[in-house]
Amino acid sequence: MKRDYLHITDFNTEEILETLALSCEIKAKLKNREDYKPFKDHSLAMIFAKPSARTRVSFETGFYRLGGHALYLGPTDIQIGRREAVKDIARVLSRYNDIIMARLFDHAHLLELAEYATVPVINGLTDYNHPVQIMADIFTIREHRGHLDNLKIVYVGDGNNVAHSWIKMAARLPFHLVIACPEGYLPSGETVRLAKKAGISTIEIAHDPQTAVKGADIVYTDVWASMGQESELADRIERFKGFQVNDELLAATGKTSHFMHPLPAKRGLEVSDEMLEAHAQIIFDQAENRMHVQNAIMLKIAGKR
Ligand code: CP
Ligand code: NVA
Repeated sequence: MKRDYLHITDFNTEEILETLALSCEIKAKLKNREDYKPFKDHSLAMIFAKPSARTRVSFETGFYRLGGHALYLGPTDIQIGRREAVKDIARVLSRYNDIIMARLFDHAHLLELAEYATVPVINGLTDYNHPVQIMADIFTIREHRGHLDNLKIVYVGDGNNVAHSWIKMAARLPFHLVIACPEGYLPSGETVRLAKKAGISTIEIAHDPQTAVKGADIVYTDVWASMGQESELADRIERFKGFQVNDELLAATGKTSHFMHPLPAKRGLEVSDEMLEAHAQIIFDQAENRMHVQNAIMLKIAGKR
C-alpha cells in the first residue's frame, strides 16, 4: 500500500515524533555534507497551481541534496483539472516519477490526485490545509525550546489553511491551542470538532487577541488574505483591525514569547516590521526547517526509513 501525506493526521503521534527525530538526523547529515543519497535515481514531480518561494525551493533543493531530481511544473504547465482531468494526470505522473508533491487550490483535487496516483503524494498546500508547514513549525519550536511540554500556542488571524493544520496537529500532540480570529473568519467547524474529539489537546476559539495571547509561549500569525483571496484584501484589512501582531500584542502574553510566521508576510498588516525583525531567528529557522522536515516526510512515505 502506498502512503500519502495530505494531512497532519495522516501520521499518528508516534510517526510524528519519529518524523521530528528523523528531521533532526537528516538536518545534521546535510549540514555535515555527508554522502547520503537515498533518493539516487529517483524523481519528484512538483505541481504548482499557485505561486511559491519556500515550498518550491525547499522541496527541489531537499530532494536534490538526497540524490534525486525534482521537476517544477508551474501553473501554466499541467493546469490540473482544466487542461486535463486530475485522475489522468495522477496516473501519467505516476508512470514517470517516484513521488508527487502538489500545491493546489481545491483540496478535493488533491484527494483525487492521491486516490489515482500509484506513487506517494505530498500536500504542498491547498485552500484547506498546509501540513508540511506545521510539521516544520513544531520541529522549530522543539529546537528552540528543547521540548514540547506545557506549550501554549496562540494563532492570531484568519481561520485558514495554516490554522487548519495547527488544529490537526493538536489532535496528535498535546498542547494548548487558541485560534484568535475575527467573527466570520473562523476555521472549519468540522475540523475543530474532530480535533477536540481526539481529546489530546485543549483547543479554544477566541475573538479578542489581547486576552487570547495571555500566557502564550508562541504567538503565530499568517496573512489575512491567502493566495486566491487577493480581491478581498481591502475588506479583510477592515475586519482584521486589532489582530496585528506587534509589540503591544506580544507584551500582552505577560511572558517572554516567540513570534512565528510561515512567510510570506505582509509587513504592516498581520505583523509589524519590527516584530518580524525581532523574531527573525526563529522565523528563518522555520523556513530552513521546511527542507529538513519535508525530506524526513518523503523518506518515510517512500518507505526508505
Ligand atoms: N510558507 C510557504 O509555504 O511559503 P511559499 O508560499 O513561498 O511556498
Ligand atoms: N495562508 C497562506 C499561506 C502561505 C504559505 C496562503 O494560503 O496564501
